[in-house]
Amino acid sequence: MSHNVVVVGGGVIGLSVAWRLAAEHDVTLVDPTPALGASWAAGGMLAPVTEAWPGEEELLDVGAASLAAWPGFAANLGVDLFTEGTVVAGFDAADTAQLDVVADFLARRGRTVDRLTGRELRRVEPTIGPAVRGGLHVPGDLAVDNRELLRRLTAAAYEAGVAFLRERVRAVRAGAVELAGSALPCEVAVIAAGAWSSGLHPALASAVRPVKGEILRLRARDGTLPPPRHTVRALVESRPVYLVPRADGELVLGATQYEAGFDTAVTAGGVRDLLVHAERVVPAIAEYELTETAAGLRAGSRDNLPLVGWLEPGVLVAAGHHRNGLLLAPITAEAIRAMAAGVEPPAEIKAADPARLER
Ligand code: GLY
Repeated sequence: MSHNVVVVGGGVIGLSVAWRLAAEHDVTLVDPTPALGASWAAGGMLAPVTEAWPGEEELLDVGAASLAAWPGFAANLGVDLFTEGTVVAGFDAADTAQLDVVADFLARRGRTVDRLTGRELRRVEPTIGPAVRGGLHVPGDLAVDNRELLRRLTAAAYEAGVAFLRERVRAVRAGAVELAGSALPCEVAVIAAGAWSSGLHPALASAVRPVKGEILRLRARDGTLPPPRHTVRALVESRPVYLVPRADGELVLGATQYEAGFDTAVTAGGVRDLLVHAERVVPAIAEYELTETAAGLRAGSRDNLPLVGWLEPGVLVAAGHHRNGLLLAPITAEAIRAMAAGVEPPAEIKAADPARLER
């Protein structure tokens, strides 16, 4: 049955959901500035394995299911995926010990990764500096140019018939989305407003919070060493950093992580920390041009799993994706499509049911 659906939020989740729903329903997407925010700032890693952490088994499973859907999702949009895989570097002995904990956890979940000495790591990824003690090689994680993805998703949504309304939403209730001076009636509303979702519905009030991330963009120059061939993630004296190469020579370097409310200022200390830590892993970046600094707000949930499901009849949520918004876009869009159609969503997304908020 076809519905009149309003999707609130035009980041990667809202755009993906609206695009998928538009095949079966009349869809309006409401966002004052679509295709910006955290999705625009993002690094673009599609990395369930290298984001994995002991205790987050369900997140690993939902991430792995979404990763498996990414090649088809990207092909439908005409977006290229970066398939060179990831190396994870441990700077000192304590950092490599932490990586051993992650590798053991992954092995227990049936996902073996290759442990490498510093020398072996440099053989796989020659841009890694001489001080790095060791690390992991993870061939399966992917990456995508997040900005190209947002351009393609926006175009695909328009083409599929999604109507874009550039307005701010004040609240969402069953049957209507409240705008500044009016209400937009709908049979189904989908809250996909990232960190801002908490203010839109009482059930989300303390369920989603902003988690600030500062991120840099660099570019190799004539005469400098080329960027890494792989995505490089690292722990440097326990501080995580990542470098994601783009096909056009750009290198995305991220990201800080703070609980600072809705502050999106890029701080001098944040930029300094990212550069200092990344240079210890890939020394060549010191000669690169720094082309952009940005900050985005991840939508953190209490257990780091997203919230995907019914809040009440007529109101769905697709928010709280925290560090994994791009990775989880395909499975989230498919789950919301299935739920709106009244059919079973992918099994792995059940862990994201917002009913757990009441427990
Ligand atoms: N997914 C990487 C980040 O949130 O910084």
